Amino acid sequence: MQEKSPETAELRYGEKSLELPVLKGTAGDTALDIRSLRKLTGMVAFDPGFANTASCASRICYIDGEKGQLFYRGYPVEYLAENHEFVEVAYLLVHGQLPDPDERARFSELLNRHSLIHEDMQHFFRNYPEGAHPMAILSAMVVSLSTFYPELEASEDEEIDITVTRLLSKLRTIAAFSYKKSVGEAFVYPSYKLKYCENLLNMMFSSSVVDYQLDPVVVRTLDRVLTLHADHGQNCSTTTVRMVGSAGANLYASVAAGICALWGNLHGGANQSVIEMLERIAADGGNVERAIEAAKSGDRARRLMGFGHRVYKTYDPRARVAKKLYHDLARHLNIDDPLHEIALRLEEKALSDPYFTERGLYPNIDFYTGLIFRAMGIPREMFTVMFALGRLPGWIAHWLEQHADPEKRIARPRQLYLGPEPRPSQSSFSS
Ligand code: CMC
Repeated sequence: MQEKSPETAELRYGEKSLELPVLKGTAGDTALDIRSLRKLTGMVAFDPGFANTASCASRICYIDGEKGQLFYRGYPVEYLAENHEFVEVAYLLVHGQLPDPDERARFSELLNRHSLIHEDMQHFFRNYPEGAHPMAILSAMVVSLSTFYPELEASEDEEIDITVTRLLSKLRTIAAFSYKKSVGEAFVYPSYKLKYCENLLNMMFSSSVVDYQLDPVVVRTLDRVLTLHADHGQNCSTTTVRMVGSAGANLYASVAAGICALWGNLHGGANQSVIEMLERIAADGGNVERAIEAAKSGDRARRLMGFGHRVYKTYDPRARVAKKLYHDLARHLNIDDPLHEIALRLEEKALSDPYFTERGLYPNIDFYTGLIFRAMGIPREMFTVMFALGRLPGWIAHWLEQHADPEKRIARPRQLYLGPEPRPSQSSFSS
């Protein structure tokens, strides 16, 4: 239940006046409770894109968009990325606290135990056409999991851990298999001996002819990038997961829907679009000025990808970490990617242009992560799959939070109808 403050706000419309309760969040958020609005005035709230609507109360993640801060369960994301592994962050998001050594060991053991996918599911991969986008495969495979594995029924921690680790672990295997399918290579099975990100890289890049050598810096960088993605409040995909879950759909179906939402290039698909944009600029002789002028034209198709955010009106804290991670990784791998130089110039030019600063348009997480994935040898079609792997703990945590909420209601917004007025017509059903 949200904290009700003694404050109220008064709304006047014509002869009517309404006292609306003010709700306070724990970190300073203030919300106007408009649940009684329609009942008392006949009006609904109009807010396209839910830009100013809190669709739920949540205890998982806090974002201060003005200060550029992000917290998971109270911990700054930078602290978690530096000091904890992704698997621990996943545990934190789902359980509300970081695991102690015993909980950590048990969680890891479950991740290992559930890493295989049913042999029958492997046949599905074979029938996708050549060049199928791995996000489509990922979503279809996740909803298919519900036909092989039981739904989450109980609210016991043990039961939750099994379902959560099953999904976390299997999504990683599905992601790696989708990649192998796209390059026409045989699947590599997960290994008990490897940790979460090691396993992912090994399943993707080793083969009968390549003895892939795990580089601890690459592994740690990937782990940190997954942490940066792990949750982000009511973003489009998480709200999709909650919305689908609110109808009573199981976790797998809800997450599969979230994956589809993430695929869009205004959301998680932006990491792929950023690299494509940088390549277009490179093909244009590295002319960042022209790209910036085009982005200012108001043409949505020519926006700077990896720039701007609904919530952040300053530098996205995740982008700051990603920028540094790329810098360190490139130095370690001795890589000099010409797209990096273009990205740096693009950022510098944009941030000295009032069009961007006045609108609060700064690099977001997707601006530098594509370069990181590229440096690791991950193909661009897999970039958003990496985002999905990172976001999964957040989706699960939100689904569980909503599932346990005694006040949960099916998501069912209203609309402002602008179509034709009722037309003259007759029907024997209407008497
Ligand atoms: N390039 C140029 N102009 C932009 C951009 C951009 N990337 N983003 C927003 N604007 C302008 C927009 O034209 C509008 O200008 P005006 O006020 O003159 O009409 C103003 O900024 C506000 O834009 P908006 O469309 O109302 O903003 P929004 O909150 O609805 O959209 C966004 C947020 C992220 C979809 C948008 O900034 C965008 O399209 N960015 C590029 C795609 C991208 O990088 N997406 C990844 C987001 S971060 C990862 C994630 O969470 O998914």
